[in-house]
Amino acid sequence: MDKITVIGAGTMGNGIAHVFAMFGHQVNLVDISQNALDKAVATITKNLGRMVSKEKITAEQQQATLDNITTHTDLAKAAGDSHLIVEAATENVDLKLKIFKQMDELAPEGCILATNTSSISITKIAAVTGRPDKVIGMHFMNPVPVMKLVEVIRGYATSDETTEKIMDMSRNLKKVPVEVNDYPGFVANRILMPMINEAIITLFEGVAGVEEIDTVMKLGMAHPMGPLQLADFIGLDVCLSIMHVLHDGFGNPKYAPCPLLVNMVTAGKLGRKSGEGFYSYSHGTKDWIVADTFKK
Ligand code: CAA
Repeated sequence: MDKITVIGAGTMGNGIAHVFAMFGHQVNLVDISQNALDKAVATITKNLGRMVSKEKITAEQQQATLDNITTHTDLAKAAGDSHLIVEAATENVDLKLKIFKQMDELAPEGCILATNTSSISITKIAAVTGRPDKVIGMHFMNPVPVMKLVEVIRGYATSDETTEKIMDMSRNLKKVPVEVNDYPGFVANRILMPMINEAIITLFEGVAGVEEIDTVMKLGMAHPMGPLQLADFIGLDVCLSIMHVLHDGFGNPKYAPCPLLVNMVTAGKLGRKSGEGFYSYSHGTKDWIVADTFKK
């Protein structure tokens, strides 16, 4: 089995470590914060426990998965013998470029360097390395253990060999990989984010309330979550940053972020992670309760 290093122990990083480890890979999970690593292992343990209680895996498989994961705060110690490194750090261009330079220096020659970025150009990231043919986007969806898709993004110089390897590895994780090219938002977010932005514009213009908009899309289009719920789930700051990538990348006003989205992010209302977005999450139950600002 290939040795995998996952950089970043947040929501996406811990989900990616979870699936690779569950399918028998040795995983090094790296983060600068030991606290984040401890939290990630606790989350993986909880999510595996949910699978055990639903009889999808056995308690032995849960333990074997956890045994496959080693945590590190030092990338140099983890990267040395990796076949694949998947970067899932914060969505910040400068940070990603810095990490890729480091990965390129530390990783063995044949190692593929993948990024889970939701919208930063793969070509730009690849350009800071000496191996642009081995740099690729491996975009998992949240929650990673549940969602079947891996959007596999080819940068300008990504080789066929690298692409095939990542497509195969994704299939081995029982995911469905889809190959796309490196243009703003790729495919997933080029289509998803304008829909979410349009839902926010619909709310902003007073066409309908939060619950009404979400109910229309859930019951009318069979979406598991309404677009405003989904925006809260993804994080409004992430949604705004992707709208900026689309707006800057295409120069088309149709991608201008809704002023309400901009205001909410400025006010620190980032959705689930900050306790409030279109819904409030401070009431201690799993129910979706519309935030006071949007109550009629
Ligand atoms: N980790 C692991 N498993 C989880 C989980 C998590 N964080 N959250 C839920 N699950 C599992 C549950 O165990 C359950 O499994 P079974 O169906 O096998 O029993 C299943 O997911 C459904 O969970 P629940 O019944 O608790 O909750 P639900 O039915 O409300 O589903 C959901 C939750 C899966 C998140 C569902 O609402 C959903 O699919 N929402 C849409 C998610 C989506 O669109 N994700 C993509 C976001 S965009 C993105 O990630 C990319 C980007 O670049 C922005």
